[in-house]
Amino acid sequence: MHSKKECGILVLISGDGSNLQKLIDAQKISKLSGKIKCVISSKKDAHGLVRAQKSNIYTRVHSLKDYFQGTSKGDVFKRQELRQKFNIDLANLIIHDSYDKKCSHENYEAPELVVCAGWMIILSPEFLKIMKEHNIQVINLHPALPNTFNGTHAIERAWKSYQNGEIKKTGVMVHYVIQEVDMGDPIIVKDVLFIKNETLDSFKTRVHSVEHIAIVEATNIVLNGIYHKHLTEEL
Ligand code: GRF
Repeated sequence: MHSKKECGILVLISGDGSNLQKLIDAQKISKLSGKIKCVISSKKDAHGLVRAQKSNIYTRVHSLKDYFQGTSKGDVFKRQELRQKFNIDLANLIIHDSYDKKCSHENYEAPELVVCAGWMIILSPEFLKIMKEHNIQVINLHPALPNTFNGTHAIERAWKSYQNGEIKKTGVMVHYVIQEVDMGDPIIVKDVLFIKNETLDSFKTRVHSVEHIAIVEATNIVLNGIYHKHLTEEL
């Protein structure tokens, strides 16, 4: 019988971490088909870090702001270079728990799945290439339907579009991450219908509650796929 090796999960966050919390809660009641090994935040004051630490999950901070120190918005090329270094360093952090791949921490194991749960920084093609080379899948939660409202403030933009009579529904998806922002193949898509005269805040709360379900379901779908891939490789 195949001993179910716990698939390692690493979660990328930038803020409150309510979606991370749902993954943690699922893991606590054995409803997550893997183990959250590490949480990396792009912001040192992200509440999601507190959530992880309260559950004894290893955390790191990897802040683009630190890379941009000493530069200004006008330093376009310098910032492009720094953003690239930020991405390569992030890849090494995920794989080796160190910026220098030569000194990987002996007890650290690279994850098999990276979950972007409110991660607000675009991941570069080089980053994704390194993940692919190490057989690490990267998925992202986005509060919109495929090919709609890519990028930030998707919930507010959908709500405004409904107010203008342009759409009748929106939704939430978790998708594989590719170079084009929020354009990867969907793993799970859930519709969210609008309610006449509903406030934006109430609508946001409903969307987030659908996200909280989608993030766990999608993570399990991908983890189960990884597990079965291990099984077939062992046959
Ligand atoms: C979620 O709405 C996510 O889709 C968006 O940012 C929010 C993150 O929420 N990218 P949290 O940090 O998981 O609470």
